[in-house]
Amino acid sequence: MAKKEFLTIEGGVPLRGEVKVSGGKNAAVAIIPAALLADSPCVIENLPDVADVHVLADMLTWLGAGIEFKGDTLRIDPTTINRFDPPYELARKMRASYYLVPVLMSRFGRAHVPMPGGCDIGARPIDQTIKGWTMLGADVNTQGGVFNAVGEHLQGADVHLDMPSVGATVNTMLAAVFAEGNTNIHNAAKEPHIVDLANFLGSMGAWVKGAGTDTIRIRGGRPLHGSTYAVIPDQIETGTLMIAAAATGGDVVLTDTIPFHMEALSAKLLEMGVYVRDEDDRIHVRGGGSLRGINVKTQYYPGFPTDLQQPIVSMLSVAGGTSFVTENIFEARFRYVEELRRMGANIRVVDRVAIVEGVDKLTSAPVAATDLRAGAALVVAGLIAEGTTEISNAHFIRRGYENIDKKLRQLGARVEWSTRESDD
Ligand code: EPU
Repeated sequence: MAKKEFLTIEGGVPLRGEVKVSGGKNAAVAIIPAALLADSPCVIENLPDVADVHVLADMLTWLGAGIEFKGDTLRIDPTTINRFDPPYELARKMRASYYLVPVLMSRFGRAHVPMPGGCDIGARPIDQTIKGWTMLGADVNTQGGVFNAVGEHLQGADVHLDMPSVGATVNTMLAAVFAEGNTNIHNAAKEPHIVDLANFLGSMGAWVKGAGTDTIRIRGGRPLHGSTYAVIPDQIETGTLMIAAAATGGDVVLTDTIPFHMEALSAKLLEMGVYVRDEDDRIHVRGGGSLRGINVKTQYYPGFPTDLQQPIVSMLSVAGGTSFVTENIFEARFRYVEELRRMGANIRVVDRVAIVEGVDKLTSAPVAATDLRAGAALVVAGLIAEGTTEISNAHFIRRGYENIDKKLRQLGARVEWSTRESDD
């Protein structure tokens, strides 16, 4: 029998109080590999204590880097790295393992990295990443489920992405900063973590302009030195907690946030009848009245993020009227809907649209997380449901949410994390 993790939630308690948002997972998993481009140690602050960060740190240790955690700070000494082939057992656990390819190429002229894992939310192609590296002159093949990349003398180039992919933008940026000459990444992703990575690279001495716009310009080949840098707050954790506060009819202040990153969600919550107010780096959310159903379409940033599609559907399942939620980014991101139905939600999925007919209440049921944000959706559902909900496969939630049980308890929720033997 294997050990399994469970999150148990006694629903019906409106969340109240103040809670600090942790550092951004998707920023952290790009910044940590980038530290390997430096010729001296980096200190990365405000890291979230989530599984993906620890897996990445384990991979760096395996590669020979010096790694030292102190609270939410990680010191990375890249000078002792002596391998370019992280192991499959670690690489398969997360999406961002392929960010190691360009940084290992910068040190060794080659990299041998197992293809990435990450959440099972439909096809996750990598053609744009390979195009970016190849345009800069790397020779890459993926035979045997491994990136075999060779690139001793990369040269800057114009790279036009077919879509603003986060992964392809990060991977091309990481290669372009050590390639000689100028690179322009057109149709680049504009997510806050792209800007954060650009700022970190800048702090190391790289010349990177335009991050956050459609075109990122990089003058490569500069020597990069170690730096001390604090990661931005996690906008998906912020959004999940905003939704949980509103859905439970609570009254919550989120601290250490960047409200500007949350505009797409805030606009939607206001449309539903929720009170949302920005106060410098704090966001005040108050639910309580009746919630109106709305339509949501996921888009690239600054549109509504696909990573909040699942949690908002849980909330819409108890809002008045019919909501249409269209998932435009990932094809299989509605798997959790079946679990919500067990709790009484009335949701049909037609192609890429979830049609949510609001019901009066959800009721507890044993449910299973199928991926990280599906887990977040079930947390929101458990918080509003009548009775006690047990979420199995809760380890998915730990991939991206730091101490979610403690944070929710701090807001008054009755939530327990447990690990026990299970033969499921
Ligand atoms: N795409 C391609 N070809 C490519 C790359 C992407 O067709 O070469 C398509 C994908 O199929 C998808 C779209 O482009 O339809 C966007 O994919 P993107 O590459 O932007 O996603 P990603 O880099 O794999 C990151 C986050 C995800 C988040 C997406 C979208 C990290 C480590 N992961 O994934 O985060 O959902 O961007 O914003 O940054 C999560 O945190 O739960 C998570 C899944």
